Amino acid sequence: MTDGRKQHIRVPRYSGSARINHWIVAITFVLLLLSGLSLFVPALFPLSALFGGGRVVRWLHPMLGLILAVAFLGLFFRFFWQNLPEFTDLVWLRRIKHVLAAEDQYLPEIGKYNPGQKFVFWSQFVLVGTLFITGVGLWEQGLGYVRDWTGIYPTIEVKRLAAVIHAVAAVLAIAIWIIHVYAAIWVRGTLSGMTRGSVTGGYGWRHHRKWLRREVAKGEIERPKVAAN
Ligand code: HEM
Repeated sequence: MTDGRKQHIRVPRYSGSARINHWIVAITFVLLLLSGLSLFVPALFPLSALFGGGRVVRWLHPMLGLILAVAFLGLFFRFFWQNLPEFTDLVWLRRIKHVLAAEDQYLPEIGKYNPGQKFVFWSQFVLVGTLFITGVGLWEQGLGYVRDWTGIYPTIEVKRLAAVIHAVAAVLAIAIWIIHVYAAIWVRGTLSGMTRGSVTGGYGWRHHRKWLRREVAKGEIERPKVAAN
């Protein structure tokens, strides 16, 4: 008996370093979400116990924010080209009802990312950037160093505005993250790209045919090791 999984042709989708980069983003995002919510409303303050209490959260949350900003920049430069808009994205969006009904025969061939994934990429770029800039503006300890170096310190009005923008950007980023994770689970076979580094040929053919054609032309496929009878 052979392992059923090994009989699929597999196509490499993410290198080891891209996967490590992505999972650093994912883990820091979840830690930021939990620590941020504990600072956001008193009712959620008990979440700070996960990190060792409120004092730890006060320094850890901004530090995690710095890690997320740097790590996300890594994803940004890696995936920038494949997330640029194309004409077929408009066609895909106009046929969104066929996307939701999984009627692939009515959809155009898609490259590495579909318009929904491109939306996640660009919106998280804007939101993580906004969270970073407003977060630095709210960071007492970090701002102390900035003030010492530059002599600039935000006024209380600027800090109040930064707090509101920070909270709105966080809510939007969390909502888009939930959609991202839901889509990764809902579209069967997507997760293995980020866990094993490859997807099946069938998955590529069904969801990212233009990308699959390019990978096959480059010879980037792993043939199954089928046992001889
Ligand atoms: C537990 C949380 C997460 C899971 C399970 C997850 C899962 C995945 C999977 C399976 C892919 C591959 C999609 C494909 O190849 O078609 C992916 C790609 C990606 N993920 Fe995540 N992810 C998570 C968190 C995040 C977070 C927090 C961010 C950003 C703030 C993020 C940003 C991205 C980006 C930029 C890509 C590349 C696709 C694109 O450019 O649109 N992910 N993720």
